[in-house]
Amino acid sequence: MNELSIPRPNNLDAFWMPYTDNKYYKDTPRMLARAVGMHYYTPENKEILDGTAGLWCSNAGHGRREIIEAIQRQAEILDFAPTFNLGHPIAFEAAARVAELTPPGLDHVFFTNSGSESADTALKIALAYQRARGQAQRVRLVGRERGYHGVGFGGMSVGGIGSNRKQFGAMLPYVDHLPHTHDPARNAYTRGQPAHGWELANQLENLVTLHGDTIAAVMVEPLAGSTGVLIPPVGYLERLRELCTKHGILLIYDEVITGFGRIGRDFGSERLGVYPDIMTMAKGLTNAAVPMGAVAVSDAVHDAVVHGIQNGIELFHGYTYSGHPLAAAAAIATMNIHRAEDLPGRAQAMEGYFEDAAQQMRGQPNVVDVRNFGLVAGIELAPRDGQPGARAMDVFRRCFDDGLLIRVTGDIVALSPPLIIEKPHVDRIFETLSDALRVVA
Ligand SMILES: Cc1ncc(COP(=O)(O)O)c(C=O)c1O
Repeated sequence: MNELSIPRPNNLDAFWMPYTDNKYYKDTPRMLARAVGMHYYTPENKEILDGTAGLWCSNAGHGRREIIEAIQRQAEILDFAPTFNLGHPIAFEAAARVAELTPPGLDHVFFTNSGSESADTALKIALAYQRARGQAQRVRLVGRERGYHGVGFGGMSVGGIGSNRKQFGAMLPYVDHLPHTHDPARNAYTRGQPAHGWELANQLENLVTLHGDTIAAVMVEPLAGSTGVLIPPVGYLERLRELCTKHGILLIYDEVITGFGRIGRDFGSERLGVYPDIMTMAKGLTNAAVPMGAVAVSDAVHDAVVHGIQNGIELFHGYTYSGHPLAAAAAIATMNIHRAEDLPGRAQAMEGYFEDAAQQMRGQPNVVDVRNFGLVAGIELAPRDGQPGARAMDVFRRCFDDGLLIRVTGDIVALSPPLIIEKPHVDRIFETLSDALRVVA
């Protein structure tokens, strides 16, 4: 890509933008027109440092040649072929490569096109598994308050963010929630996993007492990102795992953010040392160059469903684009980079420096908590009276205008840079953020 500026579009009306204050945006549009490495560029060619890997997804940095060329090559060979009762080589290759990377025992891979589709796919597989093993009464799904599992009806219902649900009526039936683990009174300014709160997992026992043997699965993010970075307390996931096993409940991890190196290992489960029966992924799988998601399941889950009937379709589920050739090519090229450059190792090597810089936000105006793990940090601000989210949104706009992309959710600033980040980038992120915090009242 050359360095010429790119013209702005004349008409902003037609695109109804997702999760956006459309009226405000279209009065004061901020655009990203191209990207390379750690940076975006506006149409006027102003450089914006990417503090969020796009939306938690461009882990290898932007404009990676190997991925671009893999997509181009594949488009010449096979633009599309269905995967319903047919196959194409690269989809199988991509699945095998994902299975090599996932923790041992999670070796069967179902392709989707997004994190939301992965969440709904995981929930459907869990229900199908329980039925296949003769436990058809297990129809309940348990999520967690403040969980985010995308915007499909399954993920939205099992998710626990009120603002994502309130416009949409009744949700799925038979869904319950565990309490969230945010406890600033005991855990504020924790580096890494907080010390307090493992016992909140015991709430699952209460749900079992309430619902008996009707719970099919529990779905949680091992580290909750979109709600504003909630890191699991020490011992919490261990307890959840123990209770799921004890009560015949599947444990699903939503690794859409924690997958592919974000917290210093290939997957969050490996870093945290607690493994699920089913895990979702998306985002970093293709470095976001082509949309793709996936669900990896254990042998037990796969075999119960697939060998549970003698012949015919075993799972009535799938997407036109499951295993799309261009996405498969992007995924393989991304996993090559992931391994060759040891992106998880890079993340882990940088996390101490990143943590020190993040924790220095303590004491800046309006900061009430800082938390971090791997290359993720959450900086929580006190809300303005009667205007939740407004202060953080002003910080977001100020940072952008000063050349830094951050993400805000409510009054929490979430940082999750590409894993190729270097120390001077870390310095710039936190210098720009502290300048903005000092200016925004
Ligand atoms: C944990 C988690 N699950 C699911 C999703 C939804 O992914 P998508 O926006 O690709 O549907 C996200 C998106 O941020 C996520 O963070």
